[in-house]
Amino acid sequence: MALPRSEYLSSVWRDGIFDNKVVFCTGGAGTICSAQVRALVHLGANACIIGRNVEKTERMAKSIATARQGAKVVGIGAVDVRSIESMESAVERCVKELGGIDYVIAGAAGNFVSPISGLSANAFKTVLDIDTIGSFNTLKATLPQLIISAAKNPNTGTNSSTGGRIIFISATFHFTGMPLMAHAAVAKAGVDALSATAAIEYGPRGITSNVITPGPIMGTEGMARLGSRDSERSGAAFKKVPLQRYGTVKEIADGTVYLFSDAGNFVNGEVLVIDGGDWRTPGAPGATKSQYPDYLLDDSMVRQKPAKKSKL
Ligand code: COA
Repeated sequence: MALPRSEYLSSVWRDGIFDNKVVFCTGGAGTICSAQVRALVHLGANACIIGRNVEKTERMAKSIATARQGAKVVGIGAVDVRSIESMESAVERCVKELGGIDYVIAGAAGNFVSPISGLSANAFKTVLDIDTIGSFNTLKATLPQLIISAAKNPNTGTNSSTGGRIIFISATFHFTGMPLMAHAAVAKAGVDALSATAAIEYGPRGITSNVITPGPIMGTEGMARLGSRDSERSGAAFKKVPLQRYGTVKEIADGTVYLFSDAGNFVNGEVLVIDGGDWRTPGAPGATKSQYPDYLLDDSMVRQKPAKKSKL
């Protein structure tokens, strides 16, 4: 059954603004990225969503396709953004099945909560590999298609057809530095730098490159990993956010529509933070059971038993 539009898209956007466009999204089976793609599909786009887990990715593709009658959404599983070859094959399949790529969302990410004392060199590298190298591989593999799309859709604002746009999904951790998040902070700083550089290098070819930085968003895998159920239940978690609540996936989807639509024609090299002002207030992720710096001094956030996960 189709999700109600109000769960993933505001009423302000006109149906059909992305007719005949194709979006390619890594991490597309995740809570935030699937809402972004669902919104674009609702407004006319077809999509390829990319993920490591085959079953989860294909199931989500089917669900997203219910957003609009006649929508084509291809779930491409068994793809790891850390492998450029794997990304290039996914792009090839998307182009073969949907005819090209107009918009890219580099959303795949890996994260967990750990102080530096609990991070092995491989743990640190793994997050950089997924977030930073994975974003680079996504850009590299899709650039030829983005160049073609930008040439067809010059983004001048003289008509409403846009193309050749990429959004990287980042985080706010590196704005201030963040306890328990050294790995993700460093990785996302690299993502922001990559987007800014792509904006300058490829702007002259009509491509726009921007970052969307979600803050704490309700019901996401990120918050399940980083948040604290107890403090959410008691409302304490929201006190740090100036708007006194967590955000919704719809609010991230709306930012995505803005940047890809002709409302965002002249936005390039920007970081759009959608976090209710959260990063401006001091504090650590809600994962902490005790106050800063107690959880660092007593090592309570160091993972005791590393559990190996399967690669796919
Ligand atoms: N604390 C400290 N180290 C951890 C950890 C934790 N909670 N979880 C994993 N690691 C370490 C592992 O021990 C390993 O290091 P080692 O070889 O020195 O022991 C390293 O990280 C890689 O772990 P592994 O499970 O082999 O990597 P993977 O590629 O299968 O998984 C992760 C990558 C760890 C990021 C995993 O959490 C993942 O797949 N996440 C994807 C989804 C996600 O994170 N979404 C949230 C987005 S906000």
